[in-house]
Amino acid sequence: MKFFLDTAEVEEIKALIPTGLIDGVTTNPSLIAKSGRNFLKVVEEICKLIKGPVSAEVTSTDSETMVAEGMKLSKISENVVVKVPLTENGLRACKKLSLEQVKVNVTLCFSAGQAILAAKAGAAYISPFIGRLDDISRNGMGLIQDICAIYSHYENFKTEVLVASIRSPNQVVESAKLGADVCTIPPSVVKQLFKHPLTNSGLTAFLADWDKSGQSILE
Ligand code: E4P
Repeated sequence: MKFFLDTAEVEEIKALIPTGLIDGVTTNPSLIAKSGRNFLKVVEEICKLIKGPVSAEVTSTDSETMVAEGMKLSKISENVVVKVPLTENGLRACKKLSLEQVKVNVTLCFSAGQAILAAKAGAAYISPFIGRLDDISRNGMGLIQDICAIYSHYENFKTEVLVASIRSPNQVVESAKLGADVCTIPPSVVKQLFKHPLTNSGLTAFLADWDKSGQSILE
C-alpha cells in the first residue's frame, strides 16, 4: 500500500520524508488556501521534494478550461497528477488529459457508480472521500469495499483506489485490509500510526533493564 501525504504544507512534507514511508502528496484548493501560498510555487516545491505522484487540482468547471489548466499544471513537473472533480465535465477532461498521457486523479467521489465512470474515463486514481461520507452517517469504508470489488473484476480498469478524507489510523488499516492501492493521509494521522501505549511502556522497561546490565553495544 502506498502512503500519500494529504497536505500543502511544505514543512510538514519535509519533516516526514526522512521516514522513507511517503510515496506521494495530494493537495486540494482548500489546503492551498490554508497554506496562504502561491499554488504553482507550492506544487513546484513539493515536486522537488518528492519523486512520487503529486496531485494538483484544477479550479475551473468547464471541461475545456480544465484541460488547459491540467496541461499547465502537468508541465510543472513530470510527477504532477492532475486532479479533476467527479462531474460530467471533469470526466470529459479526464478522458482528454489521459489521452495526452497526463495522469489524472478524479476527486470528490462518493459512489461506486461514479468510480466506474472514472475508470472508464481513464483515471490513474479515483479518490473516494470516506471521512466526509462518515460525517453524514454514511458508510465510507463500505464504498472502498465496493470499489475494490468492482475494479477487481475488470483487467482493463487500471485506476488505482486512493482512499481520501481519512480521519484516523484505523481507516488506514481497514483500507489496507480491503486492498486499496493508496491512502492519502493528513500528517497528524501518519504520526498517530506510529504510536501504541504498549510500545512506549515496553521500551521504557527494556531500557531500564538494559541500564541495570551495565552494558553498551557500541563500546
Ligand atoms: C484528498 O485528495 C482530499 O482532498 C482530502 O483527503 C479531503 O479530505 P477532507 O475531507 O478531510 O477535507
